[in-house]
Amino acid sequence: MKTHPFGFDLSANISTFDNHLRRSLSDLEGYFSDVAAYCSLRESGNPVVYEVYGRERPEVTGELFFGLSVVHPGVVGNEYFMTKGHYHLVRDTAEVYYCMGGQGIMLMEDIEGDWAAEELHARRVVYVTPGWAHRSINVSTQEDLVTLFVCPAHAGHDYGAIARKGFRKLVLVEMADQWWSTTRLGRLPGN
Ligand code: NI
Repeated sequence: MKTHPFGFDLSANISTFDNHLRRSLSDLEGYFSDVAAYCSLRESGNPVVYEVYGRERPEVTGELFFGLSVVHPGVVGNEYFMTKGHYHLVRDTAEVYYCMGGQGIMLMEDIEGDWAAEELHARRVVYVTPGWAHRSINVSTQEDLVTLFVCPAHAGHDYGAIARKGFRKLVLVEMADQWWSTTRLGRLPGN
C-alpha cells in the first residue's frame, strides 16, 4: 500500500499517534524487587506507570515503527517507575531513542551477560545496538521521562526473557541519585 510522506509537530500533537498503550502497576507484576511495596501501591490506586503512543506502520522490512514513550514519575520501594523492557523478536535490529524531556536511565543487557546504562535527558540520544534488551527508567520523582523511539517495523517485541528473569542489574534510588549528582555520564556501579 502506498503511503504519502508525512510530517508532524511532536510537541503540539499527540494525536499524530494512532496507537496508545497504557501500563498500570498491575500490568507489571513481578517486575519490581520490593513485593510488599508493589502490592501496597497497587492496592492504593494502581497508578499508570508508563504509556506508549505509537504510529502504526506495516510490520515489514523497510518500514519504521516509531512513537513516544512516557514514563511517569514514581517509586516502588527502592526502584523508580520503569518500562517492562524487552528484546526485539528479530534480534539483529537496533533502536534509537531521543529524549525530549525528563531525567532517566536506559538500562540495557545482552544474552552474553554484558550490560550498559546510558543517561537520558532532553536532547540526548541513545542508540541501542542489535541484540540488546532495553528498559527506560524515570529517575525523577517530579516529571515525566519522554522519549521518541524509532526501530525497524518488523523488529517486534519479546518480553518473555525479561519477564521471567528480569534485568541482571537494578537501578536503585540512591544509585540513580548518586549518578545524577556526580558523574552524569558513565556506568552505574555494580550491584
Ligand atoms: Ni525496542
